[in-house]
Amino acid sequence: MKEGPRERWGSQAGFVLAALGSAVGLGNVWRFSYIVGESGGGAFLLLYFLIVLFMGLPILIAEFTIGRRAQSDVVGAFQNLAPRTPWAGGGYLILFGSFIIVSYYAVIAGWIAKYLVAYLSGGPATETAGDYTGYFEQFVSAPFEPLLWAFGFLAATAIIVALGVRRGIEGANKVLMPLLIVLLVGMAIFSLNLSGASEGVSFLFKSDWSALKDPDVYLAALGQAFFSLGVGMGAMLTYGSYLPRTVRLPGVASMIAISDTLIALIAGLVIFPAVFSFGVDPATGPALVFIVLPDIFGAMPGGAMLGLAFFVLLSAAALSSAVSLLEVLVAYVIRRWKWSRPRAAFTVTAFVFLVGVPVSLGYGLFAEVQLFGRTILDGLDFFASEIVLPVVGLLFASFVGWSWPRRLALREADFGETMLGKIWLLTLRYLAPIIIILILLRSLGVL
Ligand code: TRP
Repeated sequence: MKEGPRERWGSQAGFVLAALGSAVGLGNVWRFSYIVGESGGGAFLLLYFLIVLFMGLPILIAEFTIGRRAQSDVVGAFQNLAPRTPWAGGGYLILFGSFIIVSYYAVIAGWIAKYLVAYLSGGPATETAGDYTGYFEQFVSAPFEPLLWAFGFLAATAIIVALGVRRGIEGANKVLMPLLIVLLVGMAIFSLNLSGASEGVSFLFKSDWSALKDPDVYLAALGQAFFSLGVGMGAMLTYGSYLPRTVRLPGVASMIAISDTLIALIAGLVIFPAVFSFGVDPATGPALVFIVLPDIFGAMPGGAMLGLAFFVLLSAAALSSAVSLLEVLVAYVIRRWKWSRPRAAFTVTAFVFLVGVPVSLGYGLFAEVQLFGRTILDGLDFFASEIVLPVVGLLFASFVGWSWPRRLALREADFGETMLGKIWLLTLRYLAPIIIILILLRSLGVL
């Protein structure tokens, strides 16, 4: 089957911004803040850094390497590199996983967009002053409104993907990422100057080692690391497939892993000083961003402006991540069915929206429906982040570690015969698979 010339990034900087855009998303702010809050702060953070460095980064390098060598989408990659082997089945698992993630991701991103617009006119208007719990619950349980927001968010995502790798994805990230960074740094400076901020800072950095006795903390750290880096779902593989040979993968991947982690940390420096300065419990769970923060913004002078900045920032982060997840599916459809990019983008998005409908209704009409003992959204997040992500991570690590000849793997990843390269390969072969298997067994309740 003859394929046209593959699309390419316009520049290395454009690729780095796009990959960073994929990594930085709701995971860094919404998910990171509530997981750190629930897992006890400092000690969790140390564990998280270790997992990013020793598991996330090596697998990220492997994922880029597979994509660049194969020059194809997630299914084509395994078919090109390992034809007629069971590996090829992995590609379909990845399609399935990214389809699920983008479906529920769009629902949460829709809530964010709703809050953004509410802050444009001064903040969410609550029936009883300051009752943001009531506001949030009333909003998410309505049948139609949240769906409209998810639809709008998905439409924006589809348009960017339809415009192509260079004009759409790279172009959007060149605007969204600088915007995000400026807003984030500005907000961190403001938040750190609040009275009582130091308590929030010490919550983040003080180590309460007893938290590490809880085995669930390890699970949470692994899931969070993969989710936040965006590894294990083919997005980085697909982005890597638009790369030329000239980019040095280990350097680029390290830069992305470090920046993603720094951005999560800065987001923590925005959120926790404010949380402590207003005497709120940091372990409030997923509602932290939608209920606790509006409360805090409402009580601050200039809070409406801050709220606006915060939800613009989150929308930018969510959009650039959703784009990468949609691109996984669209790249496959374009090659497999020889569809035009816009046709593929809008058709896939329509199916994603269809799955988003029950996810969104899971907070109202379908509140009784349970998936793995949770709401539909939380159930899908659990299944995708704690089962599919680790399994695919394991697949990437062992594919490069075990099925490629050693020299080939080192060369394709731009390591050559270096010490770092050897450590990388050993990690892919032993450390990463063993730890992932242990954690998976644990999350399935076998251990
Ligand atoms: N990393 C993004 C975030 O932090 C979400 C995301 C993008 C993602 N691509 C992914 C998560 C691939 C898992 C796998 O919000």
